[in-house]
Amino acid sequence: MCGIVGYVGEKQAQDVVVGGLRRLEYRGYDSAGIALVVGGSIASAKRAGKLANLEKAIVDSPLPESTAGIGHTRWATHGAPNDVNAHPHLGRTGRLALVHNGIIENFDVLRTGLEDAGHELESETDTEVAAHLLEIELGSGHDLTTAMQNVCRVLEGAFTLVAVDAEDPSCVVAARRNSPLVVGIGEGENFLGSDVAAFIEHTREALELGQDQVVTIRRSGVSVTGFDGTPAEGRRYHVDWDLSAAEKDGHDWFMRKEIHEQPRAVADSLLGRRDAAGLLHLDEMRLSDQDLRDVDKVIIIACGTSFYAGLVAKYAIEHWTRIPVEVELASEFRYRDPILTASTLVVAISQSGETADTLQAIRHARLQRSRVLAICNTNGSTIPRESDAVIYTHAGPEIGVASTKGFLTQLVACYLLALYLAQVKGTRYGDEIAEILDQLDRVPDQIQQVLDGAEAVYELARQHTETRSVLFLGRHAGYPVALEGALKLKELAYIHAEGFAAGELKHGPIALIEDGLPVLCVVPPQGRDQLRDKMISGIQEVRARGARTICLVEEGDDAIGPYADVLIRLPKVPVLLQPLVAVVPLQLFACELATAMGHDVDQPRNLAKSVTVE
Ligand code: F6R
Repeated sequence: MCGIVGYVGEKQAQDVVVGGLRRLEYRGYDSAGIALVVGGSIASAKRAGKLANLEKAIVDSPLPESTAGIGHTRWATHGAPNDVNAHPHLGRTGRLALVHNGIIENFDVLRTGLEDAGHELESETDTEVAAHLLEIELGSGHDLTTAMQNVCRVLEGAFTLVAVDAEDPSCVVAARRNSPLVVGIGEGENFLGSDVAAFIEHTREALELGQDQVVTIRRSGVSVTGFDGTPAEGRRYHVDWDLSAAEKDGHDWFMRKEIHEQPRAVADSLLGRRDAAGLLHLDEMRLSDQDLRDVDKVIIIACGTSFYAGLVAKYAIEHWTRIPVEVELASEFRYRDPILTASTLVVAISQSGETADTLQAIRHARLQRSRVLAICNTNGSTIPRESDAVIYTHAGPEIGVASTKGFLTQLVACYLLALYLAQVKGTRYGDEIAEILDQLDRVPDQIQQVLDGAEAVYELARQHTETRSVLFLGRHAGYPVALEGALKLKELAYIHAEGFAAGELKHGPIALIEDGLPVLCVVPPQGRDQLRDKMISGIQEVRARGARTICLVEEGDDAIGPYADVLIRLPKVPVLLQPLVAVVPLQLFACELATAMGHDVDQPRNLAKSVTVE
């Protein structure tokens, strides 16, 4: 949600900043802008719409050379996505340029104060307020670092701010509270970015910042302080993926590339989890076995696709450990006065590690003395840093706005957590755990099998470009898969889609069935016959009312044939692990259908990756 870049060094800042914005555009694409420090003044350009509009503008009217600059790609919160509201914001005198991610909650009061003092603000944004406040501080003789510290102390809400001062081209200054910002450490140059993708082509050395910190980057180094000016230090780390991971690698969409990376992402997330004796180890976990033995309730909090991973986790954890599990939308969690104790384990699932709703939920849980374990794909992000424990997924950077490999690797982490709890609590025998781990090890090849045999799914997608509504049905662990299939279709193809637990159909949704309505059904594997038989009844019921039934069915299961208009075959996996293979055709269906309809799959309308506002 908004991408931010800052650079100071020896290269042309415009190239570095625009290159960084290109890699961050998935975070927001309502407008883009750049500001460069040029011999005592600021040169800037900004345009509504995608980054391409800004790129064209600076080709038409080139900016002067500079070695220090900032950039922004926006997901609009305050003010329409037009040129005026685009960042950067310059103060009154043009001495300063500022970009911002987040929401300054007390901006109304601050704006009134500025207007009473004679300031005229031209945009509707909260950001411009901060730009004027910074300029006042600079005007009273403070340097940009001190000005930033002083201003941050009066701001409320969540923000990352990055600024340059025309009178000091040697530095770029940034601050963060509840909003992402990482520093890239180079040689003779340093970088700022909302995430490491902003500078990965220049350096893989990064510095993680804490809450309420101000960072000043110069060619010669980086200094960090608290908002009160107290010196502080960030945590240095090496990024374990490189530029190629942040590129499309011959695919037309990042999403398509990421779907095809899933066998590797799942394998990497399983790698190195077993010791020589076959016991499961979660090295980065940071919670003792005794802490885990004391857990008497698990609450999973997450948003969107990550929430659906949590729903699957409930089936696995309860079945393998007998610990009761609740799954909560993070945005609802703290407002309902949840019952939390020291023996409640709160599991926060977040691909980005920056989702504001999830972050606030874990803060609430920790205030109630519960332990929080994060499942996260992003090293250096806020949610794992503020949690007691973490299981990292190893999906590599997920750039397509719609989560795919993030989801599959979250499922893997949830299974590993469930099995680890079963191991320490002794609710499952070692042999049984080893057998499930063996089954998980076979899954990457099985996902590959689904990808290799996906022609029928592509054909299906091409047939449905005129469709205005699609239903998805599932039972048990197939129910969250149905929800995820519907979400993917909504967000990419803008088609009305709903996922239902198949058993709920007759309690209302069956009224939606009409002639030709496509209904995608995730059929439980053979061996879970009670479940499967009920699902078959559901399929018959919708078909009898005219639905076009598209059934995802295990290979070798021929009982569904007579009731299916289209059969999509899935490899044989146990019911609890079936989401790992069943969701893949649904991801492909949404991706191909959206492509066939001419939509931008990587940047669907109104969305942004990493939702850092509540
Ligand atoms: C949907 C999607 C979103 C995210 C949700 C949570 O395709 O990507 O629903 O899953 O915004 O994001 P994270 O996992 O980063 O907390």
